[in-house]
Amino acid sequence: MEFDSTENRRTLSGMRPTGKLHLGHYHGVLKNWVRMQEDYECFFFVADWHALTTSYDNPETMGEHVWDMVIDWLAAGVDPEKATLFIQSGILEHAELHLLLSMVTPLGWLERVPSFKEQQQRLADKDLSTYGFLGYPLLQSADILMYRAAHVPVGEDQVPHVELTREIARRFNAFFGKGPGFEQDIEKAMSQIGKKASGRFRSLRRRFNEQGDRDAHAQALELIRGAPQLTGDQKQLLSGYLEGRGKALLPEPAALLTEAAKTPGLDGQKMSKSYGNIIAMRDDPKRIEKAVRSMPTDPARVRLTDPGDPGKCPVWPLHRIYSDAATCEWVEAGCRAASFGCVECKRPLIRKILEEQEEIRERAEPYVARPALVKEIILDGNERATRIANETMDIVRSAVGMRYF
Ligand code: TRP
Ligand code: SF4
Repeated sequence: MEFDSTENRRTLSGMRPTGKLHLGHYHGVLKNWVRMQEDYECFFFVADWHALTTSYDNPETMGEHVWDMVIDWLAAGVDPEKATLFIQSGILEHAELHLLLSMVTPLGWLERVPSFKEQQQRLADKDLSTYGFLGYPLLQSADILMYRAAHVPVGEDQVPHVELTREIARRFNAFFGKGPGFEQDIEKAMSQIGKKASGRFRSLRRRFNEQGDRDAHAQALELIRGAPQLTGDQKQLLSGYLEGRGKALLPEPAALLTEAAKTPGLDGQKMSKSYGNIIAMRDDPKRIEKAVRSMPTDPARVRLTDPGDPGKCPVWPLHRIYSDAATCEWVEAGCRAASFGCVECKRPLIRKILEEQEEIRERAEPYVARPALVKEIILDGNERATRIANETMDIVRSAVGMRYF
């Protein structure tokens, strides 16, 4: 991929430590991370504080879950040489930024995030009327804004959280981005474009702000963009000023929707631990073989001679993930013509899944044998993450007036 050197390519994503991961995580999330690490500056982290918001009653398993999950990341091909891997609770600045952002976060914004009510209903046996749980998406905003990330690869359910993050960034910038440096920077940019242009810009800005004149807005933007004396940063500053915004202290991130088809579980529903229908990334080959063999198929195929329809069979979407075009054709034709039975149809699929598990297990092996290796990777990642977090917190602490020495 070709990139403009000024483009922000920083990418951040987090995962709650739920323990060993399954093929849904692998095909739905991790393969995408592995692709992204080639072209983007990636930060992937263990969202352990987020996990604690719902599993505060069960803290004993956290440690085990964290390391099992990180090993699965590495086993999937996430490369610590290319991406930075860290643990959220190792960077205390996330908590500080969460706190500072909370000062300008209206309660209603959090109460309206769809996952707040949904999860409370879904996990009704748990008391989620907590301050920590309400703050879940704000903590996520702090995670994202801390790294001034441009891209946040997430599944559909997380898009409202990224949307909230954008609103929080805008609000933070509006409150705190107009400090003394702001006025000076505006003056400087104005003098660079000269008296005539700056006079015209100011009057267009006034027309836009006082009369809501969209045309004046467009002309002012055109004027800024076409001014050869201005740097990219200055253009951004002025376009914010035009709209009454402050300096973009914290840039607004964009959600990068992961378009992976949902991996079906052993019963045809979405693969999920809570449905008890998973194949783990590092599962027992014997168990996999048995489980796939006993997967339900198109109910119309009672006898070997009954033709079937792959569209009605939970095994088919797995073929679509695992089998090449020729095998898929073989399945479609054979199923409809009843030229073989379901046991036969599943055979090449089982082989492919086992081959993939072999590769995954091979990559996991050194880390399973030497857990200290995994800890080193995380310590190194935490260090790299801390460096960026410190830069951001310097900007943020000054902006909110917490700079005394
Ligand atoms: N809430 C996310 C999830 O449940 C995990 C997460 C926490 C996250 N912080 C994040 C994802 C920051 C992306 C960016 O999947
Ligand atoms: Fe499913 Fe294959 Fe059986 Fe058809 S032949 S019903 S696709 S398992």
